[in-house]
Parts: sequence; C-alpha cells; structure tokens
Amino acid sequence: MGIIIKGTGSYVPEKILTNKDLEAMVDTNDEWITTRTGIKERHIASAEQATSDLAYQAALKALAAANITAEDLDVIIIATVTPDKFFPNTACFLQQKLGAKNAFCFDIEAACSGLLYSLEVANSLLSANKKYKNALVIGAEKLSCITNWEDRNTCVLFGDGAGAVVLGKDDNFDYNSVVATDLHADGTYTDLLQIPAGGSRTPQTAETLAQGMQYTHMQGREVFKLAVGGMVGASKKVLEDANLEASQLKKFIPHQANLRIIEAVAQRLDVDDDLVYKNVFRYGNTSASSIGLCLDELNSAGELKRGDYVLLTAFGSGLTWGAVLLKW
Ligand SMILES: CC(C)(COP(=O)(O)OP(=O)(O)OC[C@H]1O[C@@H](n2cnc3c(N)ncnc32)[C@H](O)[C@@H]1OP(=O)(O)O)[C@@H](O)C(=O)NCCC(=O)NCCS
Repeated sequence: MGIIIKGTGSYVPEKILTNKDLEAMVDTNDEWITTRTGIKERHIASAEQATSDLAYQAALKALAAANITAEDLDVIIIATVTPDKFFPNTACFLQQKLGAKNAFCFDIEAACSGLLYSLEVANSLLSANKKYKNALVIGAEKLSCITNWEDRNTCVLFGDGAGAVVLGKDDNFDYNSVVATDLHADGTYTDLLQIPAGGSRTPQTAETLAQGMQYTHMQGREVFKLAVGGMVGASKKVLEDANLEASQLKKFIPHQANLRIIEAVAQRLDVDDDLVYKNVFRYGNTSASSIGLCLDELNSAGELKRGDYVLLTAFGSGLTWGAVLLKW
C-alpha cells in the first residue's frame, strides 16, 4: 500500500491588486516591482474572509479531486502565519466548516516552508499509525492583514491564497509520494523576517500599533542571500538521497517569493528553465500557500502523471527552509 497524493485544490480571492494600483498607494512603480521581483499582481482577500475561508475553498476542491468526503479525513493540518485567531487553531475552524468530524486538527507555523513541514508531518503520521488513512494538508494565508500598506519595501511583495493537498493510503500503489525530505531551521536569524509585536514577548500596545509593529518587517537583501543557498542545498540533498538527477524531474517548484531568487536557485541546480514552475507574476509571495497553489495549477492542468518526480523547495521566516521530493 502506498501513501500518495490523492488530490489537490487551490483558491485565490477575487480581488486583484496590480502594480499600477500600488503606484497610487506608495512611492513605487511597475518597472521597479517587475524587475526586482517579477510580480505583476496579487490577490487580496475581502474584509469578511479569514484564512480558514480561503482554506475551505481549496479544501473542497482537493476533497473532490481525491474522491473522498470530509468525514474520511483523519487529520487536518493548516500551515499558516495568519491564523484566524491566536487560538483555537485555524484547522479547527476549517474542520467545522467541512464537517470533518473524524479528524484531529492542528496548525503548523513554519512561514513559507509551512507546506513542506506539513507534508513531512502528515506523511509521518500516516506511516506511523495504521488507523490513519487520509490527511488534508493546506497552506493558507491572508498576508494582506499583516502587511503595512504604507511600507513600499514589503507591501509590493505579498498576496493571499490557499493551496491544499490530500495525502492518503491507496492499495493500488506500491510507493509513497513523499520520497525524500530535507528540512531545516536556524533560529539565529529570527530578526530577519518577523512581526515584532503582538506575541508574549512584546504584547500589542497603543505604542507598538503606532509604530507599525503589528506588520511584517523584513531585511530583504539578507533574506535573499540566505534563501538561495538554503534552497539549493536542500534540493541537492533530496535529489542525492533519491539518487536522481535534476534532468529526471518533471517539474521543479521553488517557493514563489521573487523571480530573481527562483532563477538563481534553478541556475545553481542546473535545472532547465522549462522545468521550473513560476506563477509569482500573478500571486506574489503567498507564504505557506505558494507551493500548494503551484501544485494545484499543474495538477489541474493535467501536467502531472503518476510516477512523475516533482521537487519542491521553500524558504521563509524562522529561518526555516527545506526541500521535498514527490513522486506523483
Ligand atoms: C525585497 C527585495 C525585492 C528588494 O530588492 P533589492 O534589489 O534587494 O532592493 P534593495 O533592498 O537593495 O533596495 C533598493 C532600493 O529600492 C528601494 N525600494 C524598496 N522597495 C521599493 C519599491 N516597492 N519601489 C521602489 N523602490 C523601492 C529601497 O528603498 C532602496 O532604495 P535606496 O537604495 O535609496 O535605499 C529583495 O531584497 C528580495 O526579494 N528579498 C527577499 C524577499 C523575500 O523573498 N522574502 C520572503 C522570503 S520567504
């Protein structure tokens, strides 16, 4: 029996915010954003939509694709940095909406690497316990609510969305979709990309709010350098562990934060450009959602066939990073 990817789903909110729209909000321009990041537009959730609402839409699609019901789920994991509330966890809100009454539910916070961490955890749970059959893993983010729309250094980069994967046991397969993983964290870099206030270290006060400490703060250039090295190292490791060459991949899906980072990583891994999946133009950086959005776009377009190898790699706040090699 294999533990395979049974279905995928994704969702982005209707509202599109273009680079032109941003020109009217901060001192920036389409040319700067395009050449520095590759981003042309991003989707922004409505005031009524919380992260679990975005996850819900992606989950419905993934369950339908997997041909299972919500009651067939044993576990729901949501990777997010923008939970509906501090607690309860966002996966519980989703469970209620889906009616997935047999699932236990928790969130994983590993920023942009969240979906990779969640795939490792879900695969391990299914492998370790024979009573678990199906796991729903979703990267979902409403980054627009932690973005300072007056800070041109960060507000041009982020967008909202959700990407879901159903991982489950299937008698018709004799392999596991999660072939190799290489996950990392380095807490010496916690200052590089963070929300400075609102947690137990620095609770929110009128002063922290006035200083914009409730929003994402990033040292972009430092993150850029570390991102490339981290993703290249982890990707090489999983290819090596699986005894595969980059040329044997069907697709390479790097975290969609910045086109220059994506191209630098692909070049160092010697992956042909036509194998590299890119949709950063349309969504910006959607953190934990990014890789799930890519996977579902490819899968829905019929581009992934059983047996294809797909390499995922991501990098984010923490710092966290890693790579997961999937066999579709
Ligand atoms: C953020 C990032 C796009 C900035 O690109 P960069 O080439 O490093 O640009 P710099 O930080 O050197 O800034 C260059 C100049 O552009 C300015 N600038 C920043 N944002 C701008 C914007 N939206 N529009 C116009 N100018 C902008 C800066 O103020 C700076 O001006 P200065 O030289 O007068 O101080 C890039 O560093 C990056 O993508 N980093 C990684 C971010 C990331 O992926 N984070 C998430 C990881 S999951």
